[in-house]
Amino acid sequence: TKKSRFEIQTLTGWLLNQEQAGVINAELTIVISSISMACKQIASLVQRASISNLTGVQGAVNVQGEDQKKLDVVSNELLKLLGIIASEEEDVPVAVEESYSGNYIVVFDPLDGSSNIDAAVSSGSIFGIYSPNDECLADIGDDPALDQSEQRCVVNVCQPGDNLLAAGYCMYSSSVIFVLTIGKGVFAFTLDPMHGEFVLTQENIQIPKAGKIYAFNEGNCQLWDDNLKKYIDDLKDPGPSGKPYSARYIGSLVGDFHRTLLYGGIYGYPGDKRSKNGKLRLLYECAPLSFIVEQAGGKGSDGRQRVLDITPIEIHERLPLYIGSVEEVEKLEKYLA
Ligand code: AHG
Ligand code: MN
Ligand code: MN
Ligand code: MN
Repeated sequence: TKKSRFEIQTLTGWLLNQEQAGVINAELTIVISSISMACKQIASLVQRASISNLTGVQGAVNVQGEDQKKLDVVSNELLKLLGIIASEEEDVPVAVEESYSGNYIVVFDPLDGSSNIDAAVSSGSIFGIYSPNDECLADIGDDPALDQSEQRCVVNVCQPGDNLLAAGYCMYSSSVIFVLTIGKGVFAFTLDPMHGEFVLTQENIQIPKAGKIYAFNEGNCQLWDDNLKKYIDDLKDPGPSGKPYSARYIGSLVGDFHRTLLYGGIYGYPGDKRSKNGKLRLLYECAPLSFIVEQAGGKGSDGRQRVLDITPIEIHERLPLYIGSVEEVEKLEKYLA
């Protein structure tokens, strides 16, 4: 049924309703709204990358040891004006003076799947928002000699995912979709290019309990431990149904995750003999997506424990990730036990 213009709800309208209902406060509303604004800008840059010579590498190597793409850097700059941030593209957390978002701690992967940009394959931005760092403000109060702008508090961005107040991602694909949870379910907003607004397109998304789709980079399978190899082999067994699992791997976590959230199944990036903790970063990839998947009734695990229970020691630490339908993640955990 076609919705009348008045029924269509924009992200801005939805956020104001949440604020009026007391679910989030004005500052958090501003932070999320500014993130969505930055994502719109990134979306248009991504869509015009080869026109505006924004494909290819920047020439620098980030703290991960990756060749930074031009759009990694530009996306990071756009998201940086949000307050205290930890980013895949920043060596250390950055406190930004003109933070008009209180002292919320925003962690983010400014451009996920950036290796896909030059081929115009889906990419995304992932973010998580933690509560203001109260003890940090107390420090500043103790030392009136230093006014706030000079003193850089050492922010504790390393909090367990259980502390997240909000998490989300923006997927830059055939549609630009902003997916968000503020702890009361998962909502999807699709960018309407006609109005330049994100409009609500899915409410209270629930991930299917099971799904016969698996997303692993099997190119690494000789480096995996034997139990994991057995798990993957068994997925290929047609079994009584006569139908094996389907393999789907975009190579962009945001794209693979979004499909898993809607269709069910499992995404995995295992640790292997070369890197025991795999490739994905706990703070701004594994934890925000695990918060979202749990809000949708799914599961995010490192193979043995719940991702949201883990407190990062270092902001860029990596973690094996298995995420998706509860039945699929629990099936895998049995193989690894
Ligand atoms: P990023 O582009 O933010 O560095 O993340 C890339 C990640 C993730 O998006 C994707 O699922 C994974 O790298 C793909 O890794 P492989 O190419 O090793 O499969
Ligand atoms: Mn990267
Ligand atoms: Mn990433
Ligand atoms: Mn990235």
